[in-house]
Amino acid sequence: MCRHLSKSAPIFLLLALSGLLFLLRNILTLENLSFHTVSTHIQLQNSSPTAIAQKGPLPPYHNPTFCSHLGLEPTPDEALEDRNLLNAIAWPKPPAHSSPAPLNQTSDPVHSLFAILPSEGRREWRVGGQLEALVQMHDFQGRPKRYGGDFLVARLHSPELGAGVAGKVVDHLNGSYSALFPLLWGGPARVEITMVHSSEAVAVLQRLREQRPNRVFFKSLFRSGELSETTVCIPCLPPSYPQEPLCDHTDPHTGEPWYCLKPKLLGCDARINHAMGGYQKPLYTNEEELLFQRSGARLYRSCHFRTLEMCFILVCFITRSRVNIKVVLRASGPDRINVLPKKTELENSSIKPEPVKYTPSGYYYQGSWRSFGGTPARQFNDSSSVTQCLTGKVIHMYGDSTVRQWFEYLSAFIPEFNLRSPKKVGPLMAVDGKHNILLKYRCHGPPIRILPVSTSELRYVANELDGLAGGPDTVVVFSIWGHFTSFPVEVYIRRMRHIRRALVRLLDRGPGTLVVIRSANFAAMNQERSMHSSDWFSLQLDRVLRTMFTGLAVVFVDAWEMTLAHHLPHNIHPPPAIIKNMMDLILSHVCPDKKMKS
Ligand SMILES: *[C@@H]1O[C@H](CO)[C@@H](O)[C@H](O)[C@H]1NC(C)=O
Ligand SMILES: *[C@@H]1O[C@H](CO)[C@@H](O)[C@H](O)[C@H]1NC(C)=O
Ligand SMILES: *[C@@H]1O[C@H](CO)[C@@H](O)[C@H](O)[C@H]1NC(C)=O
Ligand SMILES: *[C@@H]1O[C@H](CO)[C@@H](O)[C@H](O)[C@H]1NC(C)=O
Ligand SMILES: *[C@@H]1O[C@H](CO)[C@@H](O)[C@H](O)[C@H]1NC(C)=O
Repeated sequence: MCRHLSKSAPIFLLLALSGLLFLLRNILTLENLSFHTVSTHIQLQNSSPTAIAQKGPLPPYHNPTFCSHLGLEPTPDEALEDRNLLNAIAWPKPPAHSSPAPLNQTSDPVHSLFAILPSEGRREWRVGGQLEALVQMHDFQGRPKRYGGDFLVARLHSPELGAGVAGKVVDHLNGSYSALFPLLWGGPARVEITMVHSSEAVAVLQRLREQRPNRVFFKSLFRSGELSETTVCIPCLPPSYPQEPLCDHTDPHTGEPWYCLKPKLLGCDARINHAMGGYQKPLYTNEEELLFQRSGARLYRSCHFRTLEMCFILVCFITRSRVNIKVVLRASGPDRINVLPKKTELENSSIKPEPVKYTPSGYYYQGSWRSFGGTPARQFNDSSSVTQCLTGKVIHMYGDSTVRQWFEYLSAFIPEFNLRSPKKVGPLMAVDGKHNILLKYRCHGPPIRILPVSTSELRYVANELDGLAGGPDTVVVFSIWGHFTSFPVEVYIRRMRHIRRALVRLLDRGPGTLVVIRSANFAAMNQERSMHSSDWFSLQLDRVLRTMFTGLAVVFVDAWEMTLAHHLPHNIHPPPAIIKNMMDLILSHVCPDKKMKS
């Protein structure tokens, strides 16, 4: 017996150690996977959110209406809008014959180059003009790419001046791209073009989004008396799944579909909460994994100096094939220009201004965001200016943790009232009785990757809006995108349509209601996060959002451009400097400066 034990002890030790390592690895990788609302504890306690995990992968799905065949049948108008929106965000796919492409034929940011084009017919750049850069993508063997679809982003910036503006990237569908920038400040300006994903990687994300809509799944606790059971919940049911009985938790008012597996012993009414369930794995094939490499990014970029030693060349050779998420491209020539002030009319009237090809929603100068939206942004630096602006207002905030950041920002000025709800779940409330200010935050309805939230607090934004009277003292703010990135776009369109209808009703009922919509923003990305929360998914939702709310009397906070144009690293929760700029913009709309307006 003892001999046996001692013999097997090293094996046990090894097993225990590898178990520990596995656990640690999970804690570490899960930690930053998603939003602050996702707790690591959930995943660890519930590493067996049973059903789906045990069943293995869901059957593949090819029908784009996979997530829309449930719920109400779309009206012809809705179906038309769906089609128009989906057409508007269609993304070029790599040619069929080249997929799946071996890594060495995919876009390599290190081999790819951009060049600033000379200003048309003139030798100088002036404020009010524009700058164009041409990008040519290459593969890992250095051959020029011949098709488009790479996800590139561009900004023009000047660290010296605290200035930055998002550029517009045009895909010529032949491996070359143009990046356009308006010239908005005098002085130095530097072009930065980043490949977020190769076109081949985007094709993988697109497949995941459409064929694996439940790669993020949820769970609910059912409880009655002594009995409790946890089951898996999803909004999208493949027609063949599952064979087991379901609970239909579809919202009766909006028709938003939601399903949980029926507990074995309890009834569907016993559902008491909703929470993040987990992530399906694996999702990428081995070849696909190579398209989402981020390790060694810094080393990779330094590989270009010809004078490097042999061993470095070797390291470059090894790491070369590993980096293709958010890599900055090199310029074949200078990457910066000097912008001269505007010419006065007297100086030369024969030069006509160039037609403007692209207008961003704003830009940074001296660290503060200047919006082109009409209302000039003011700065609300101290507590008294904030409370003065908000005096007599009721502010309702709805959505994900990116709008909760705004609540947290304002609660530094307005005392928070303790509702005894978990900080990251809410609902939250702040009250300033002296100035008659009420501030509220509530998370949006499922799908939401969140710590357990009671079903009684789980509300759809559209339904909440229907409960508001509105009016000139009401401010409604929402941000909904980050928890929809893993689903087919139809799921998002449906949600936004319900909210838009409720908003139209609210604006009719309570004229003067200020509605603020916050767009998606860039986030830090690695291989894991790309699967569920890639900026590419966010970009697609963002375009849908903008299109769907165009023409409504709403204020749009362009978090997309505000995070792209800023020098701080991307983060799903933008840093305080950006939050301050967003809040200054919103407050400027809440209490516009009468003098500046006129
Ligand atoms: C998670 O993010 C935090 C801050 O955003 C960072 O300090 C930490 O190193 C990250 N952890 C991992 C495992 O990436
Ligand atoms: C490119 O990759 C494929 C598949 O991995 C391989 O067969 C081929 O030899 C590679 N070509 C070059 C030039 O490295
Ligand atoms: C790609 O298309 C652009 C725009 O049509 C064109 O200017 C450029 O010459 C093309 N490049 C190649 C390599 O064909
Ligand atoms: C104005 O423009 C014309 C034609 O481009 C040029 O010949 C002339 O020298 C310019 N004058 C000044 C003052 O720059
Ligand atoms: C707010 O603070 C910024 C930076 O500290 C400063 O540049 C700006 O002038 C201040 N604005 C007001 C209105 O006090």
